[in-house]
Amino acid sequence: MARTFAMIKPDAVQSGHAGKIIAHIQQAGFTILGMKLTQISLAQAQKFYEVHKERGFYGELVEFMSSGPSVVLALQADNAVGLWRETIGATDPAEAAEGTIRKLYAENKGRNAVHGSDSDENADIEIAFFFAGTELVGG
Ligand code: CMP
Repeated sequence: MARTFAMIKPDAVQSGHAGKIIAHIQQAGFTILGMKLTQISLAQAQKFYEVHKERGFYGELVEFMSSGPSVVLALQADNAVGLWRETIGATDPAEAAEGTIRKLYAENKGRNAVHGSDSDENADIEIAFFFAGTELVGG
């Protein structure tokens, strides 16, 4: 069974949508292997989003991601990466399909409610970034 990494970003936690998003995750068919509330430090955000460091939005992104608590999750399902990306919708909520998490809860491209891994390889890296093996069910 495959895994992906998911994050409920500070905008969605702040606006009280975390509970509904967790219910949405379970209704979409994922098993939650790990979950915690954490305020990401600026240094952690810079490292997590290092791949975007040359982009114009990088400073804004890492500042936002460290601005308040997030919920980080390790999710399991068949085709977990693809299923989660389909469940959350496009990065920009204006382009996200009806019924997706970003369509329902995101404000804009930056404050877009949730994150999802873009490949199986990055899913493993991102899960390991936030979770010790002992923090995962069955780990
Ligand atoms: P995420 O899936 O967490 O991965 C990279 C993030 O960069 C993305 O979600 C967006 O929140 C953010 N991002 C992408 N493009 C922009 C943009 N033009 N302005 C601000 N943030 C952006």
